Order: sequence, then C-alpha cells, then structure tokens
Amino acid sequence: MGKRLWFFLVAAPVLGLLVGACGSGELAPELTPIPTLAPGETPALVGALTEGATPATEEALEGEETDLVAAGEALFEQACAGCHGAQDGAGPALTGMADRAETRVEGMSAEEYLHESIVDPSAHVVEGFQDIMPKQYGEQYTDDQIESLIAYIMHAGSSGVAAGEEAAAPDPELGAELFAANCAGCHGAQDGAGPALPGMGERAATRVEGMSAEEYLHESIVDPSAHVVEGFQDIMPKGYGDRFSDHELDSIVAYILEQ
Ligand code: HEC
Ligand code: HEC
Repeated sequence: MGKRLWFFLVAAPVLGLLVGACGSGELAPELTPIPTLAPGETPALVGALTEGATPATEEALEGEETDLVAAGEALFEQACAGCHGAQDGAGPALTGMADRAETRVEGMSAEEYLHESIVDPSAHVVEGFQDIMPKQYGEQYTDDQIESLIAYIMHAGSSGVAAGEEAAAPDPELGAELFAANCAGCHGAQDGAGPALPGMGERAATRVEGMSAEEYLHESIVDPSAHVVEGFQDIMPKGYGDRFSDHELDSIVAYILEQ
C-alpha cells in the first residue's frame, strides 16, 4: 500500500505534467489504469486519498451518461433531425420535446412516453401532425440505441439544457421566432383573420376582469375558444397547448407583451 501511495503522490502528478506538456488533454483519461495497479483499484485509492469515498465512481457514471447522450446525438442527427429540428417541421421540434413528453400522457413518465413514441409512433399522434413517422425503429435499433436516443432527447429537448441558461426565464427572441413561424399569418400589423399584433399586450390587460395580461394571453393561446374576441370568428388553431412547451408559451407571451 505504501508503495502505491507513493506512486500516486509523486509519480502520477509527474506523469500528468508530462502529458499536460504535450498539450493533449485527451490522453489524460487513459492514464487512470496505471500499470502497477490491478484494473478497478485506482478509483478506490484515489477516492480514499480525497475527501469522501465516491467521487471517482460518480465521475465514471457521469462519463457513461455523457457517452450515451453523445451516441444518441449522432443517431438522432442521422435518423431524426430531418423531421425534428429546432422548430416544428414535418415533426414536432426537438426543442422542448422532453418537457412536452412529461405531460403528454397521464401516468406516463417522459422516458416511457419517448420510448413508446419511437417504437410505436402511431400510439399517440401529436395533434397538428400527421402519422408519417417511420414505424420500423423498434426493430431497426437495439435497446441500447433507443436508450441513447431517449437520453439525448431528455438532454437536448429539455428547456433547461437547450437554453443553456436560466432554465425557465421567458425568452422574447424565441417568442418572436415562434410567433413569426406560427401566428403572424393571422396576427399582422393590422387586423386580419385575427386581431392585430400591435397593442395586443395592452388589450390583453383589459380583456377579462381579474385576469392579468399574461394570464389572458396564455389562455388565449392554449384555449382560444375560452374568449372569442368580438368581431372575429373562433378559427384560431386549438393545438398550441400541446405543440409548445411551457417555456415556449411563456416566451411567446413575453414577446406579445413587448408589442
Ligand atoms: C419522416 C419524418 C420523421 C422522422 C424521420 C422521425 N420522426 Fe418522430 N415524429 C414525426 C411526426 C410527424 C411526429 C408527430 C406525429 C406522431 O406523434 O406520430 C413525430 C413524433 C415524435 C415523437 C413524439 C414527440 C412529441 O412531442 O410528443 C418523438 C419522441 C419522436 N417523434 C422521436 C423521433 C426519433 C427519435 C426519430 C429518429 C429515430 C424520429 N422521431 C424520426 C416525424 C418523424
Ligand atoms: C388561423 C388564424 C390564426 C392563427 C394561425 C393564430 N391565431 Fe390567434 N387569433 C385568431 C383569431 C381569429 C382570434 C380572435 C378570436 C378569438 O379570440 O379566438 C385570435 C385571438 C388571439 C389572441 C387574443 C387576442 C386579443 O386581442 O384578445 C391571442 C393572444 C392570440 N390569438 C395569439 C396567437 C398566437 C400566439 C398564435 C400562434 C402561436 C396565434 N394566435 C395563431 C386567429 C389565429
């Protein structure tokens, strides 16, 4: 034991320096199984030398998880991204997909729902989309590959990670993009098929007594029939509550309030 300890205190840092000097950080992980140790012994010793006995194991687990997400990303880019991009296209956007998965089917976790959506896309066809997603993924991919896809969607499709910043802070720029893509056709500079965008935030504050502008806008988007504005017809699409994540909805509301 004394000999190994010596190795860690003196030899390992020196090796580390040498590797560092080569400027190749990628070599560092390969250092872990040092020749004088049986495989698997290293983490325990390192753990014993530092405070607490688990950090090395946790790092190993995190590493595995990162590998899984990376594998899922590669597969997703190749097989899915054509229909599932940053915004709705042929299929629902990857953005917010994990958040929405959480709420799609009562009693189903996000992971369960994603799994079913991939192996049996017709089980739940998302409103506003057609049942065109390929049906063979359950046979084509191994369980590991499907698991990696789910890990990637949970990672990249949750608003917290995708935004990379404060998880739930509404993002008016995202709102502007979503509005331009989904709403501007009916809500333009002047009244058209729907009420004009300019002034919409101000009007929202006065529409329903006891409802803040935010509340009214939110309700108008997820449940357009709740209050049909006088002089207009009840033709606004009804699926937005399912199509957009909470973060996306908040962002659209934030954008409208600025108009
Ligand atoms: C040809 C286009 C297309 C391809 C390719 C495709 N999808 Fe889809 N996907 C769709 C459509 C359309 C929907 C919405 C209709 C439905 O629910 O079946 C959907 C729905 C989903 C959903 C449910 C999303 C939600 O918001 O509820 C998930 C998850 C999903 N796809 C994952 C994948 C994964 C993973 C791949 C790649 C292995 C993939 N899709 C490939 C078109 C596609
Ligand atoms: C097909 C046309 C159409 C599309 C697309 C559409 N809307 Fe509407 N919208 C309407 C009509 C018509 C009304 C007025 C009738 C009503 O209140 O339902 C309305 C009302 C509203 C109101 C209430 C406005 C007020 O002055 O009280 C808001 C807010 C709103 N829409 C937001 C949106 C957002 C956000 C989107 C995109 C995600 C969108 N709409 C997409 C037609 C549309």
